[in-house]
Amino acid sequence: MAHPSVLQTSCYLEGDFVRGDSAPVVVIDPSRDVLLAEVPGVSAELTRRAAESNAQGAKAMRALPLLTRVELVRRLGAALRAQSEALARLLTLESGKPIVESRGEVEYAASFFDHAASAAELAAGEIPASRVADRRVLVLREPVGATVAITPWNFPLAMIARKLAPALAAGCSQVLKPAEQTPLTALAFAEIFAKEAAACGAPRNAVSVVVGDAPLIARVLLEHPSTRKLTFTGSTEVGRILAGQCAARLIRPALELGGNAPFLVFADADLDRAVEQAMLTKFRFMGQTCISANRFLLAESIQEEFLRRLESRMRLLTVGDPMEEATRVGPLINDAGLAKVQRHVAQAVDHGARVRLGGGIVAMTGLSRRFFAPTILDGCAPSMQCACEETFGPVVAAMSFQTEEAALLMANATPSGLAAYVMTQDIDRLMRVAEALDCGVVGANDGAPSTAEAPFGGRKDSGFGREGGHHGLDAYTELKYVSLRLRAK
Ligand code: SIN
Repeated sequence: MAHPSVLQTSCYLEGDFVRGDSAPVVVIDPSRDVLLAEVPGVSAELTRRAAESNAQGAKAMRALPLLTRVELVRRLGAALRAQSEALARLLTLESGKPIVESRGEVEYAASFFDHAASAAELAAGEIPASRVADRRVLVLREPVGATVAITPWNFPLAMIARKLAPALAAGCSQVLKPAEQTPLTALAFAEIFAKEAAACGAPRNAVSVVVGDAPLIARVLLEHPSTRKLTFTGSTEVGRILAGQCAARLIRPALELGGNAPFLVFADADLDRAVEQAMLTKFRFMGQTCISANRFLLAESIQEEFLRRLESRMRLLTVGDPMEEATRVGPLINDAGLAKVQRHVAQAVDHGARVRLGGGIVAMTGLSRRFFAPTILDGCAPSMQCACEETFGPVVAAMSFQTEEAALLMANATPSGLAAYVMTQDIDRLMRVAEALDCGVVGANDGAPSTAEAPFGGRKDSGFGREGGHHGLDAYTELKYVSLRLRAK
């Protein structure tokens, strides 16, 4: 892979780097507000070529022996680790993610390749017990075929890995459309893929990476007759549009959409541990993840003490240049992201919340104006914007509850259902509350529940479909059964 100073700005299709032929995607370093690159986008015609190449790639992948597929997937994980530092720096450059976290993201991405390879080795069909003497049923697992992945800017590499690793391991091909804010990491990944595919004799057209006008690219890829599956991580609004397009062609969608995670702290929680976990979920990429805790629901009796301890931890966070080792809070992704955070804070204050810490932009010499201070809003109400929508920023919106029942009502009173967190030392309550939370992921005394072996995904407006674990592989697999009639003896 090239060093971040030598950026790949061509798209990858037909097993090669092809210069886009349309309006460029402009990539900005959110820390300094400087232009990093202009990546020429693909036209409808080039997108069609990518879809065609994806169809050919699917055929080639289907024919590839399991051993080679597994070798390819394992190689990709190893290659990410081998180039971790260069990838992490590139990821930080275009996303503003603190470098320490970007290294963690590369490792997280690699773990999806490791896990998918192992899952594919263990995958098996079935022969159910026969109900009659002269028949056997053989259940075969076959690859879905040509797939499309649309990935977000908040995990420029890990979300590619979560979608692509099981696709390749199952014997599918995939066209990747990375977010317009972070195409460079995806194109750097394409270089890695091309090299590793060539090294193990896998088809170089099993993966394509296209950049450009998102609605046009999605439409052309989803209209192509070979496309069998879409996986999308992004907003609920876009997810609904894509689901409609999938419905028209009966393409199976997996949609990982926005969240509004509650973080429940009960009176019997170990408060130091709860604060530790709160820091993990809230300050992972400054709160710009779909599973970040958005609403802090605190038992009235410990509210003050929890916030006091959380505040002292938050005061230790270093805000600064994300390339610096000590930095834990970098810039928000763009002006729209910053404006949303500011709007939520202002609206909460207008409606009676108190800014206990932070509350505004931190001026950084030589850097952009997108650095928002770690903030605590005390006395929030469920009707405030910061509680109804995901803020996607370093803001703790705190409100209190009196009973477990009230806490659960508040936690579930949202159209979203991606993640939730519960902090308590009472194992009965932990299980009771985890079961009652209407969402796909529960962090039980755990502020960092994401891991390659877990089936990640949401419910309600947070979408459907699971990625990760053997369920991630299943999503790229079709079942077929062969009913075999035996000749009577
Ligand atoms: C996301 O924010 O969409 C993904 C978060 C994760 O994998 O932990």
